[in-house]
Amino acid sequence: LAALPEGYTMRPLQRSDFHHGFLDVLRVLTVVGEVTQEEFDERFDQMKAGAGGYHILVILDGEDKIVGTGALIVERKFIHHLGLVGHIEDIAVAKDQQGKKLGLRIIQALDYVAEKVGCYKTILDCSEANEGFYVKCGFKRAGLEMAHYY
Ligand code: ACO
Repeated sequence: LAALPEGYTMRPLQRSDFHHGFLDVLRVLTVVGEVTQEEFDERFDQMKAGAGGYHILVILDGEDKIVGTGALIVERKFIHHLGLVGHIEDIAVAKDQQGKKLGLRIIQALDYVAEKVGCYKTILDCSEANEGFYVKCGFKRAGLEMAHYY
């Protein structure tokens, strides 16, 4: 396993991370929009509700600022004898922190959680531009994404 840079830490997302730049890191990935603390808290609580299945990790630098994040969503199935499938989503590393293996560490950690909770596979969608990154993380091209936007 690659090590985190000195002083950096990784842990599950916390409610208070609204104040540690969580949404700003996600802006590296796509449009986030204006999200109030109340809205953030509500979504955070929804993800924790019931059996959950949302595992969101963050990496903090030495100054408690979030510099990377990634999510694993565990899908429950009837097929494959009530199998579980991991979905890796919303991987983002702050622009000025890219290339330090933070992305790799996030994927390794999410992969570890997926295997530990009993997923028989983990899948994700990405752009062609990111294929090389995921290949380095041990993934291989499989299938084809289809989408219907509303
Ligand atoms: N293409 C090919 N190789 C890459 C790429 C790429 N786009 N990005 C990183 N790599 C390589 C690195 O060179 C490194 O290789 P090495 O071990 O030989 O040195 C290895 O992959 C690990 O790279 P990291 O340093 O861990 O990558 P980083 O921390 O910069 O994170 C990430 C990569 C997450 C893609 C980052 O660049 C980012 O946040 N990009 C913008 C948001 C984004 O596109 N996120 C992914 C969306 S897909 C999804 O969420 C499922």
